[in-house]
Amino acid sequence: MAKEKTVYTCNECGGTSPKWLGKCPSCNAWNTLIESVAGSDAPTKNRFASLAKTAEVIVLSDIEASDVDRTPTGHEELDRVLGGGMVEGGVVLIGGDPGIGKSTLLLQALDSLQRQGKSTLYVTGEESGAQVALRSRRLGLDQSQVKVLAEIQLEKILATLAAHSPDVAVIDSIQTVYSEQLTSAPGSVAQVRECAAHLTRAAKASGTAIVLVGHVTKDGTLAGPRVLEHMVDTVLYFEGDTHSQFRLVRAIKNRFGAVNEIGVFAMTEKGLKGVSNPSAIFLSQHAEPVPGSCVMVTLEGTRPMLVEIQALVDSGGPSPRRLSVGLDKDRLAMLLAVLHRHAGVACMDQDVFVNAVGGVRISEPAADLAVLLSITSSLRGKALPKGFIAFGEVGLAGEVRPAPRGQERLKEAAKLGFSMAVVPKANAPKKPIEGMTIHAVERVEEAMEVVRSLT
Ligand code: TYD
Ligand code: MG
Repeated sequence: MAKEKTVYTCNECGGTSPKWLGKCPSCNAWNTLIESVAGSDAPTKNRFASLAKTAEVIVLSDIEASDVDRTPTGHEELDRVLGGGMVEGGVVLIGGDPGIGKSTLLLQALDSLQRQGKSTLYVTGEESGAQVALRSRRLGLDQSQVKVLAEIQLEKILATLAAHSPDVAVIDSIQTVYSEQLTSAPGSVAQVRECAAHLTRAAKASGTAIVLVGHVTKDGTLAGPRVLEHMVDTVLYFEGDTHSQFRLVRAIKNRFGAVNEIGVFAMTEKGLKGVSNPSAIFLSQHAEPVPGSCVMVTLEGTRPMLVEIQALVDSGGPSPRRLSVGLDKDRLAMLLAVLHRHAGVACMDQDVFVNAVGGVRISEPAADLAVLLSITSSLRGKALPKGFIAFGEVGLAGEVRPAPRGQERLKEAAKLGFSMAVVPKANAPKKPIEGMTIHAVERVEEAMEVVRSLT
């Protein structure tokens, strides 16, 4: 590619400037100018032009609906989040903290695809070929036929992709790749966006399925403020605690499958192994119930999982702290206000810490009731009864709202030996569930009353 002229394009209005400015000359927004390439590849000038082939306009009902062709990776849990497997020309972005297992999982997946007769290419920008080989030996993939390219320059990677046209390629990681067309440093928003756009275009044009690996920054966003999410077909995120054995992979966007589907893996000495029955892995298994702990049943994706919510309420200073790990911080503040106003439990002068065990992130509001019960349990220093679970959304008016698919959650808990539940009234089962005593509540104060009578 010939060297083209660099321009600075505004993220907001698309206006351009020949040099970097703090303020966009067109729309006056601050800090929106990002380096890009002038000419045919300029991001604002229809960078996807080559993707669009002129075609006839067809009536929807005349189009034959065929399911996309998927290649299963052979790792059941990964296929579950991908919606069945890799799709020809599909681009997957897989994000996560450093050291969580992205490279490990993808090397395992490529090896298994290669064994199925697919051609694969692993582009490594972070490790040398020798390091990748060392990892594959450790994973027990001694005879692996996966092709490896240690390269970070986009133009060379594109040329190699064109020359080998593999069925599946992994770019590990997109933040190390840089294009000669831009002067910005590798890993900058401009570079990440430009390189990902070129790779996406190459995938669509050649039919190669491409997986882009992206590191997540400390505040939880992919470096290059989520700029890649809208460009790719599928976005997967690794969750979990690098200190625990379990890892979750969550689909947060999928053009070829369901979102919020979760794959569960365990990190072993032989790499990541799928966990097909993960419902009980996020419990900390206390011998006897302890104060400040309440188990909930979460249902994200298709499988119910039991997760222990822990709270610690302790006397704080003049400005007490509210901290949550794995749960929404703003929601915690809201729940504390509801607890005070509607149940008369005040935590104003207390530090409140809440944690979802095992590094799992819970985004559904069905966790509210368990959060409140663990907080009051810690505050009173009284443990909830043995075999107790709770779930339900709590509203600002103090009402307890139903969670989707409540029966399934209760059945899963009963299957794992839980015997007592506090649930929203609308989730109370019509037929009793064997071995499970269910207290259906409509309001927060009712839930508190039930728990007080039990402990
Ligand atoms: P890695 O895949 O390098 O993480 P990422 O690419 O997301 O940065 O994961 C490395 C971690 O996994 C490292 O801490 C060692 C551990 N690990 C195992 O426990 N077992 C294994 O078989 C391998 C290869 C790695
Ligand atoms: Mg890695």
